[in-house]
Amino acid sequence: MKHWRMQDVAWDSFDPAKVDPGVLPLVKAAAMVERNGIDYARYLKRVFHDDPDFSRAADNWAIEEVQHGDALGRWASLADPGWDYEACFERYRTGYQIDATAEKSIRGSRTGELIARCMVETGTSSYYTALGEASDEPVLREICRLIAADEYRHFKLFYDHMRRYLDRERIGVLQRLRIAAGRVGESEDDELAFAYHCSNEPEGTVYAHGRCIAGYMGRAMSFYRYRHIERAVGMGFKSVGLPPRGRLADLSTRLAWRLLQWRRRRFAHRITAWDGVAEVALAA
Ligand SMILES: [Fe+2]
Ligand SMILES: [Fe+2]
Repeated sequence: MKHWRMQDVAWDSFDPAKVDPGVLPLVKAAAMVERNGIDYARYLKRVFHDDPDFSRAADNWAIEEVQHGDALGRWASLADPGWDYEACFERYRTGYQIDATAEKSIRGSRTGELIARCMVETGTSSYYTALGEASDEPVLREICRLIAADEYRHFKLFYDHMRRYLDRERIGVLQRLRIAAGRVGESEDDELAFAYHCSNEPEGTVYAHGRCIAGYMGRAMSFYRYRHIERAVGMGFKSVGLPPRGRLADLSTRLAWRLLQWRRRRFAHRITAWDGVAEVALAA
């Protein structure tokens, strides 16, 4: 059961004058990844094939993720009427597919799979909160608020199931930490970079991971504030069984914030470098 529907959004309040051109490419790319949730549910249902409770939850989860894609896609189409959400998603789906035939979790255990899911939901919940708070456009603010609330509920859903499996599988904190950190590192893999490519670059452009991940991350990272990272670290700590508040969480937040600023500067520098290459190519 969905917590909100597309028709609940006040689409009539859309104000084109308040669209931030730096946000638009991010919304387009995020729409691709969100809509692809249906494939991930297929994979989850194979991994948890003998767990009907979880399978039902995965189906509901996927319906909400697809709605996130559709809402973001509709907003991007309002902001850029020439943009074709369906065609971009088709390109994405053709070029990027997860292995939905796996019988076992790629994380080595069901607990590990659910920790990885908690980390993804931690990331999306913080990201949409940050993006919504930074945006002046009222419809985007509303969509981000609705999506962020869903993502937080998803976090709780995967967390509750994870606790259940942890009782059986008994994976140590260090192993859980390794899985969580690994999943955070994967955010710079092809999933987002290729989504950025399909939704923002003209058809026929050759995909370059470095250019696309810089295009996405260099922009996305600029919307976070310290409080968003603080909250994300707390949720991450909770997922692996560490205290979400306290000295270790504070120290980790400070480190994560510095790392984010460093990565943001590096990606922004790369965007400038790629723009320079493009200008030279055009002039030639
Ligand atoms: Fe989502
Ligand atoms: Fe989610």
